[in-house]
Amino acid sequence: MKAKEFNPNLIHITRDELLKQLQARLAEKRFKHVLRVEETAVKMAKNLPGADVEKASIAALLHDFAKDDSVKHLSLFKDYPGYDPRWLDYGSAIWHGPLAAMIANRDFGVTDEDILKAVWNHTIGGYDMTLDQKVLFVADYIEPGRTFKGVDKARELAKNNLDDAVDYKMKQSIIHLVDSGRIVYPETINIYNDWTAKRNK
Ligand SMILES: [Fe+2]
Ligand SMILES: [Fe+2]
Repeated sequence: MKAKEFNPNLIHITRDELLKQLQARLAEKRFKHVLRVEETAVKMAKNLPGADVEKASIAALLHDFAKDDSVKHLSLFKDYPGYDPRWLDYGSAIWHGPLAAMIANRDFGVTDEDILKAVWNHTIGGYDMTLDQKVLFVADYIEPGRTFKGVDKARELAKNNLDDAVDYKMKQSIIHLVDSGRIVYPETINIYNDWTAKRNK
């Protein structure tokens, strides 16, 4: 995807411009993480029938766009559909995905639901995630720079069955929060319940 320009129906800025903005907004370490997530997502999408490689690339590049943003920037989006005032109690770990999606929509003209939802939900997962949403959700978790305990298992699962990798990330993320004595954003539990009930059917 590197040399190719984005499809203007998906995003209204060029790849170069997006990379420039990312580099200016994000710490070097995070910028490199974003590039690795893109590489991982594109590789995954190429191997998954029905996945969209270009959407995987765009969603990956956008996903942490707002990771270093302030609550002040978030507050500009108070009227956006889906804005949840509870986000403020859970910190940027929870709202940076939604904020990136809202910026992508308002500032970069992204209207594609797969991309917007993939970005919005990349931290906690979403209801009835599509293939493209699952790709970003998992790629962010297993990109080659990740070193947490269990990442090898996640990579192995992702190789064989995307849903198993989604399942693993959802569970491990909640376990990790509980283990470290942190509060869990209620939607995380609701999404986990919805996912698990449907998976057990
Ligand atoms: Fe993120
Ligand atoms: Fe990320």
